[in-house]
Amino acid sequence: MPERIVDLRSDTVTKPTEEMLEAMRCAPVGDDVYGEDPTVKALEELAASRMGMEAGMFVPSGTMGNTCALLAHTHSGEEMVVEELAHIYNWEAGAYANLAGLTVRPVRGEHGVFTPAQLEAALRPDNPHFPRQTLLCLENTHNNAAGAVWTPAQMEAVAAAARARGLAVHLDGARIFNAAVALGVEAREFARHVDSVMFCVSKGLSGPVGSLLCGSKEFIGRAYRERKRLGGAMRQAGVIAAAGIVAIEKMTARLAEDHANARRLCEGLARIPGFAVRQAPLPTNILMVDVAGLGWTSEELLSRWKAAGVLCNRRPPTGARLVTHRHVSAADVDYALEITRRMVEEKKG
Ligand SMILES: Cc1ncc(COP(=O)(O)O)c(C=O)c1O
Repeated sequence: MPERIVDLRSDTVTKPTEEMLEAMRCAPVGDDVYGEDPTVKALEELAASRMGMEAGMFVPSGTMGNTCALLAHTHSGEEMVVEELAHIYNWEAGAYANLAGLTVRPVRGEHGVFTPAQLEAALRPDNPHFPRQTLLCLENTHNNAAGAVWTPAQMEAVAAAARARGLAVHLDGARIFNAAVALGVEAREFARHVDSVMFCVSKGLSGPVGSLLCGSKEFIGRAYRERKRLGGAMRQAGVIAAAGIVAIEKMTARLAEDHANARRLCEGLARIPGFAVRQAPLPTNILMVDVAGLGWTSEELLSRWKAAGVLCNRRPPTGARLVTHRHVSAADVDYALEITRRMVEEKKG
């Protein structure tokens, strides 16, 4: 058995805090499909106010929040523009196509971020040969671009270019509070440039379940119907919404600790020969490593680390993604670095 487990697979592994469990036990609840759950309503209002939007809707997952947004913004046969590594495009089981009936025009960003000129280049002329492009989806922080942050100014510029061509703009803000903490701004500074935003309480904020989709009252009205269609309308959901309220009110500021630990991990790994490490220019809680320099595959790295208690997700053929969160301390980072140094020395020896 390894001395300890350092679980760097994802910030989704975080467990509810004691305060969340207490809030869940005491939450006033009702049937939310009848609009009678006061705790769900409170969470939706809190989410909307943090995003500076009119209304919010509680959904079981980030994927469902994003899918409701696609369904509410677009019609089957239209096209969305996204960054090529976006979660909504690559990691949501093709819902954009098989549920929303959309095609995709991907844009290659630098660290997940692209410019208005790149967007313009991806926009098609109004011509019967092409699908109508009606939606731009941004992702902040950008998971697969090593947790990269779009600044509000970068978002504003691209969103303005999209709007000028008649596209609506949705933000996959699963980790929007990481972006806010990294820049020292309020989350609404990002959300003000988009028509809708989805964020998760179940990632670095330690909530057990759930995400919020926010937008105008009219948009959320349409999204409620889509949530029902997808089977996401819940009954006494106040039990889980109560934890979401604690997540938003109490758990955002501490994300700075996760960012500091990710940086510590990144700097430590970068000093180990054979490890190539990548964080975004404005780093958050995600980093990418590559061990081609050691002649190892992702699988080989993962199995060596796993034997020593360090867990992470593969990025084949020779990479891995590491994510810090509330259950990873600076001491855990130092342990992971120490066993990695030993691993690499054993290989040489
Ligand atoms: C950027 C991003 N968007 C959306 C999601 C989907 O969230 P969920 O796993 O709750 O469906 C994730 C999950 O990791 C994500 O990283």
